[in-house]
Amino acid sequence: MHAKTKTTLTPLALRDAPALIEMVFPAQKVSFEAQRERKAGAGQTLTALGSYWKGRKPLILVRAIVLGCLLPPTDDAEADLAIFEKLMAFDDEGLARRAVAANALSPAEIATRIDLDNPWDYFKATVRRLDVTGGDIRWMRFPLDVDAEGISIRWQRHITDDDKLVLYRQALATRHSYEDKAGIGKRPEEVEQDWLYAPVWPEVNRHYAHLGLNAHSFPELAEQLGILRYGHRPSVGDTFSGGGSIPFEAARIGCDVYASDLNPIACMLTWGALNIIGAAPERRAAIEDVQREVAKAVDEEITALGIEHDEQGNRAKAYLYCLEARCPETGWMVPLAPSWVISKTSNVIARLKPDLENKRFDIEIVTGASDAEMRAAEEGTVREGSMIYTLDGKTYRTPIKTLRGDYRNADGATGNRLRRWEKDEFKPRSDDIFQERLYAIQWITQATLNASRQETYFAAPTDADLKREQRVEEIVAENLTRWQEEGLVPDMAIEPGDKTDEPIRTRGWTHWHHLFSPRHLLGLATIARHNGKLKEPATFLDLANKLDNCSKLTRLDPSGGNIGREPKMTNVFSNQALNTLFTWAQRSVWNFPDSTKILSSHVPLSSGRAVECRGANEIIDEADLFITDPPYADAVNYHEITEFFIAWLRRNPPAPFDNWVWDSRRALAIKGSGEDFRHGMVAAYKAMAEHMPDNGMQCVMFTHQDTGVWSDLVGIFWAAGLQVAAAWYIATETTSELKKGGYVQGTVILMLKKRAAGERTGFKQRLLPTVRQEVARQIESMMHLNDTVKAHHGEPVFNDSDLQMAGYAAALKVLTAYTHIGGEDVTSFALRPRAPGEVTVVDEIVQQAAETASSLLVPEGLTADTWARLTGIERFVLRMMDMETTGAQKLDNYQNFAKAFHVEDYARVMGDMRPNHARLKRVSEYTSRQLTDATEIGASRLGRLIIALQQLGKDTEPQVIVDQLRAEMADFLEVRLLLVDMLTFIERKSPEPEARNAAEVLGSRLKNLRFGD
Ligand SMILES: C[S@@+](CC[C@H](N)C(=O)[O-])C[C@H]1O[C@@H](n2cnc3c(N)ncnc32)[C@H](O)[C@@H]1O
Repeated sequence: MHAKTKTTLTPLALRDAPALIEMVFPAQKVSFEAQRERKAGAGQTLTALGSYWKGRKPLILVRAIVLGCLLPPTDDAEADLAIFEKLMAFDDEGLARRAVAANALSPAEIATRIDLDNPWDYFKATVRRLDVTGGDIRWMRFPLDVDAEGISIRWQRHITDDDKLVLYRQALATRHSYEDKAGIGKRPEEVEQDWLYAPVWPEVNRHYAHLGLNAHSFPELAEQLGILRYGHRPSVGDTFSGGGSIPFEAARIGCDVYASDLNPIACMLTWGALNIIGAAPERRAAIEDVQREVAKAVDEEITALGIEHDEQGNRAKAYLYCLEARCPETGWMVPLAPSWVISKTSNVIARLKPDLENKRFDIEIVTGASDAEMRAAEEGTVREGSMIYTLDGKTYRTPIKTLRGDYRNADGATGNRLRRWEKDEFKPRSDDIFQERLYAIQWITQATLNASRQETYFAAPTDADLKREQRVEEIVAENLTRWQEEGLVPDMAIEPGDKTDEPIRTRGWTHWHHLFSPRHLLGLATIARHNGKLKEPATFLDLANKLDNCSKLTRLDPSGGNIGREPKMTNVFSNQALNTLFTWAQRSVWNFPDSTKILSSHVPLSSGRAVECRGANEIIDEADLFITDPPYADAVNYHEITEFFIAWLRRNPPAPFDNWVWDSRRALAIKGSGEDFRHGMVAAYKAMAEHMPDNGMQCVMFTHQDTGVWSDLVGIFWAAGLQVAAAWYIATETTSELKKGGYVQGTVILMLKKRAAGERTGFKQRLLPTVRQEVARQIESMMHLNDTVKAHHGEPVFNDSDLQMAGYAAALKVLTAYTHIGGEDVTSFALRPRAPGEVTVVDEIVQQAAETASSLLVPEGLTADTWARLTGIERFVLRMMDMETTGAQKLDNYQNFAKAFHVEDYARVMGDMRPNHARLKRVSEYTSRQLTDATEIGASRLGRLIIALQQLGKDTEPQVIVDQLRAEMADFLEVRLLLVDMLTFIERKSPEPEARNAAEVLGSRLKNLRFGD
């Protein structure tokens, strides 16, 4: 940190200046970096606080937005963008530093990539093969193939990161795309910030010297830009703060932050981001002390009870349970499990052994099972929704539904015969349909208990183990009611709902504590009691993390998620549901997640920060910028699934959580997409607009779905008194989303400002020409910047999705400047119920923008005239063919363009629809059925040409084909040159050599056609 820097700023000098994000935004690079951050999984800064919270926004995206809102544009857009990229560490120097920090290039690789006359100033060589080198390396220069020379090289010891940087810069310059350079480095937030940004501050200060800026860190930069724009350090508000990534990143940059959420779990996580990860070092040390104290006290108690150790002093790591049910055919009790494999590394399985006398099965635990036994154990007693087992060579099968006694009444109501558990219960009664059975224990050997590598083994429970189990049950039976009264264990009923129905319906569990076994209840109540004494809010987050790793909804993954790994426990919210299990694994208290986990990231923050638990419409604090990611449509059911935690935490929250409403407030949560949603959202955004200065800005992020989303959301913001200022598209798809069926996601960043006071009435017909003009102006200015940047750096800034998104924004900017369109005011427009299929004025304007944009986005190699004469599907195919020549393979690009070009079913012209491997069908891949008049492409001229190219490929005479075309197309002579243009394009762009040849042959034949031919 630098001492406070002197500046000569004029407060409010930028009061009315636009923000840089209204002009430029490195959307492509942000997309790439955002995806990298998400792929870091547990390595993400805020994940340690609780991986149960899904959908945190990438911090790098938030950083780009905050900076883009604060930085002002100058009259040199290219230089502005360059500064923006430096501040994001997206520039070549930043990338080189990020690569050095990751030690990304091996000396051998550097040797092959760069020219260097004095390599031995940097590296030391060891001769590996004398036969090749002759032993003398002194005269060798880079580039050099060390393998071929029979040597190996390493950095000399005295070489510093700054020395390495000299060579890294050169080596990185040999990589061409941004992805190639950035993909090998660390993420910017992982690099030591003073070093990463050392060269940036002088350049930033020079660029903004006219404003008197003089910053040497982000907090200084933010503060000074805030003074210039708002007269003080800028404040950022987020009233839907969720996991807290927006306020956290805004605070890290140096803004004061105000965060709120309706849900107390969200507020707790946001608080944790700002006050645990963001804690000052002394405060962290204090948290650590408390955590150590609790862990020690709990361990002593559990040890004294003697419930987790065996006679040899081994300690349990996990307890494996299964359900058991009586077979209606044989009367046997059958243990239920989808698989009996326990560990794939040590070949551990459970084996059922019939006990004829008692009509039940003993369960043996076998370690070192043969491959055949492993395969047999894969097949459990629950398959395809039925209980299946074999006895004396006969297989019995009973649907689980039948076991439960599922029924449907005449009135359509459904139910089952599972007994509903009562509030004071914690295990099944002996006559319940589903019984619970402990069948294996994973032990840690006494000798390795405190070793870094523990030795573990699985064993069936002994009589002594079952006695210990009984002891735990007795303790719980004696204490449960008291624990519930004291708020140490939940007494809250599970309220039915989309996700919460499942435990009630499939197990008869009616209260949240029914999701926990007696051992959990004892362990967690003990922890909660000690936490309660110490009143440290951080222990609350720690308890929530433990809860996510306990409960009967966690299981043992026999291969630890990867072949060859030790078995690993899953967590409750590995997905966003409350799915019950037939077999579950329960951590011993000793094996509860380490309490220091929540301290594993550390980013001390120094700006002001407040967290409140309240609805977005109840905001009381002011903010200069609001950045929000509101709930929308089918997103996560936070309000329901977080009740799992609220049930445990609500009774004794320490300050400052004690001021919050510990209830998920389901009724108030904004959800769905219907009328309630629109009312809730308008109220929220109106409240925010009222708590923002006239020159404030809002950024709303939402998932890009269809234009219906646009219409609704734009209507909402418009009615809230906001005007669209810009929009950017961030691709957030990742390959892991493939699992969800190739679902492609992108995020729209919509920038909004307060609409000028007063009423303005517009008329749609008069608006349309202005919209066209504004869209064209916007796109043309961006294309101009693209050309300049491409000429200087080899890569353009914006791709077509950016241009298109900016086109929409330009159109909406025109529209949302008005308060009335025709006779209707915007509030009644936004709140009015929608008729199915209704096309609103927003839809029309967006469509107009899409058309204007698509008419401007002429692919290289076609004339604007030809482009104007093509149909939607033709434009789509040719445009994407062009894009594929640059290596683009992202499905969301195809989706976006299909929408823009009004293509009805683009899937029909796609050869591959995997999110990151998308491509068009090749000419040779179309079947004749896909090219009939009944298909979109078949009915087009391009479709006709594809048939012709296929025929040429099969040696049909060109003249025959020309005759066919002439016979089939009434306007053949008029469109002949258009066909020639398309063929020339295919000849240049098609990835198939045969198609290119055929296009050339047919194109020249058509071009040289004389009358009478
Ligand atoms: C999409 S999430 C926000 C995620 C957050 N940006 C992050 O990075 O983790 C939406 C949030 O809105 C909250 N919410 C729903 N209805 C609300 C309301 N009426 N007022 C305030 N917050 C609400 C939910 O609890 C949820 O945390």
